Parts: sequence; C-alpha cells; structure tokens
Amino acid sequence: MNKILLLGKYGQLGWELHRALAPLGDIVAVDYPEINLLELDSLVSLIREMRPGIIVNATAYTAVDQAEIEPEVAKAINSIAPGVLAELAKENKSVLIHYSTDYVFDGSKGSPYFESDTPKPLGIYGSSKLAGEKAIKDVNPAHLTLRTSWVYSLRRDSFVTKVLSWAQAQSELRIVDDQVSNPTWCRPLAGATALLLAKSGEYPAGWINERRGLYHLAGDGYASRLEWAKMILDFDPQHEQQVVASIEAAKTSDYPTPADRPLFSALNCDKFSDTFSIRLPKWQEALEMAMASG
Ligand SMILES: NC(=O)c1ccc[n+]([C@@H]2O[C@H](COP(=O)([O-])OP(=O)(O)OC[C@H]3O[C@@H](n4cnc5c(N)ncnc54)[C@H](OP(=O)(O)O)[C@@H]3O)[C@@H](O)[C@H]2O)c1
Repeated sequence: MNKILLLGKYGQLGWELHRALAPLGDIVAVDYPEINLLELDSLVSLIREMRPGIIVNATAYTAVDQAEIEPEVAKAINSIAPGVLAELAKENKSVLIHYSTDYVFDGSKGSPYFESDTPKPLGIYGSSKLAGEKAIKDVNPAHLTLRTSWVYSLRRDSFVTKVLSWAQAQSELRIVDDQVSNPTWCRPLAGATALLLAKSGEYPAGWINERRGLYHLAGDGYASRLEWAKMILDFDPQHEQQVVASIEAAKTSDYPTPADRPLFSALNCDKFSDTFSIRLPKWQEALEMAMASG
C-alpha cells in the first residue's frame, strides 16, 4: 500500500484530493496550522519520519493582490517550500505532485498557451509560482507540475460563489469580458490527479519519472469571465432567489487592482491528454455538475 502525504487538505483542491486519493493508499492529510510552510522544520520531520511514496502539494499562497503587499510570504510558500519538497522527495525517492498557475503568463499570446511557451508573469503571485516550478525542475525528483487555471469550488470563496451571492444582492452586474481562461472545477482536477496515480501502478516513482515534468491541466475549453458568470446564473439551483435583472460587460481597466491579471491565459492541455489519456470535462459540463452537487 502506498503512503501518500497530502499537503493543503482544507484548500479548494486539497479538499477534493483528500477524497479522491484516499482509495489509492494510506493517506496522511495535513494543512495549516498543523504544518506551516513558513516554518519548514515540522514538515521536514514529518516527511523524514513518514517516508511517503507520494507527496501531493495542494498548498499555495493564492491571494493574488495581497501577494503584492507581502511578497516575501508569497515567495516563501510558493517558491522556497516547493524546492524543499523537491529535495525531500528526491532524498526519499518519493513522487512529488505539485500545482502551478496560468498566471505565469502575461496573457498577450491570444491563443491557448503550451508548456513550451515562455512565461512572463505580471505580478508577485505568478512570479512566485514560476520560481516554485523552477525550484522543482532544478532538483528534478520524480515529479509532475500541473499548471491549472481559474480553479473554483462551491465550499470556499471563489468566483462562482461570489457571482451567486452578487446575483442575490444586486439588480445589475458588471463582469469583465476581456479576461479569458479555462474555468476548472477542483473536483475533476483532483479526480484526474488520482486517476493518473492509479495508472502509475504499485511503484509510481519509476512510471512518473519517465513522464516527469510540466503539464497544463485545466477545464476543457475557455471563456471570458462574463460568459462564465452568465452560465453560473443559468445553472444556479436557487435561480428564483436571484434579484439580478441585467448582466453587462465591463473591462479589466475599469477595476484597477494591486496585481495585474493576464487577459488571455487559457491553457492548451494536449500534452497531458496525449501522455496520460485523461482530459478534464468541458468547463460548461463541469460547472453544471458542480452547481447540481452543491
Ligand atoms: N484558485 C485558483 O484560481 C488557481 C488558479 C490556478 C492555479 N491554482 C493553483 O492550484 C493549487 C490549488 O489552489 P487552491 O485554489 O485549491 O488554493 P487554496 O484554496 O487557496 O488552498 C491553499 C491551501 O494552502 C494553505 N496554506 C496557505 N499558506 C500556508 C502555510 N503557510 N502553511 C501551510 N498551508 C498553507 C491554505 O490554508 P489557509 O486557507 O489557512 O490559508 C489552503 O488550505 C495551487 O497551487 C494554486 O496556486 C489555483
């Protein structure tokens, strides 16, 4: 039985990973404050003691605007900790599964990004995640770094839960139509991670090692935030409680934020599907399922 260590079990993705990975082995799942990626000693001891065959890192500093205010914290969690995890994975011959973001790109390409495209983050969050990718690549254990995009859940604050609550409070919504990417429900993302680990068999390190590296993995297809919001309202099971009467297009420049966002950051996920024969569902289908399951 594989020993699996899941970091970040209360996050959007981590919560779903806990359920999805449980059938694959003996799972130990932790999160802040049990472990604190700003103080790595306890994590180092945990890994040296447990000697997990698989480490899945769903922790991250994901507050995109706040990262501009406390860059050192973002870098410690998103850049330094992944490098330490990579060292520990190498030392223990463990597999490391890590997640990164579409915000490593500047959004100027105009068509979905490939893994081979040159990243150019616009803010601290993106640059700290890119440094985390590089730290893992430099150590190069048996690893997969899965870049994903616009992750949502219905249990924690996300774009989906925000749109649902705005729709019950405001008669007119203005949503940007110039930010475009792949909406990704965290449940199929966790499911795809579990499925690929299931495919890796009893000794995942060798199998993953042959396929190690960077992959894009996000909801199939892409949309603007406006298109996404309209579909959220259509699928809302509490539709009758909506007070919203109109939903209008706005521009990103209408809402200045501390961190710039890439405008077109959709990810091309063909490398992942060609390698693992797994593709996430169409974003609209996943959204319908997410809304139905609450
Ligand atoms: N959310 C998105 O739209 C998005 C888009 C692209 C890529 N991604 C990537 O996808 C992955 C999963 O994202 P997510 O949305 O599931 O993130 P999330 O919901 O923000 O969860 C991150 C988890 O990390 C924990 N954490 C934060 N600081 C920590 C620390 N110092 N020590 C230990 N744990 C700490 C958080 O705990 P607290 O809640 O207590 O802080 C939380 O449980 C991340 O790698 C993220 O960069 C996310």
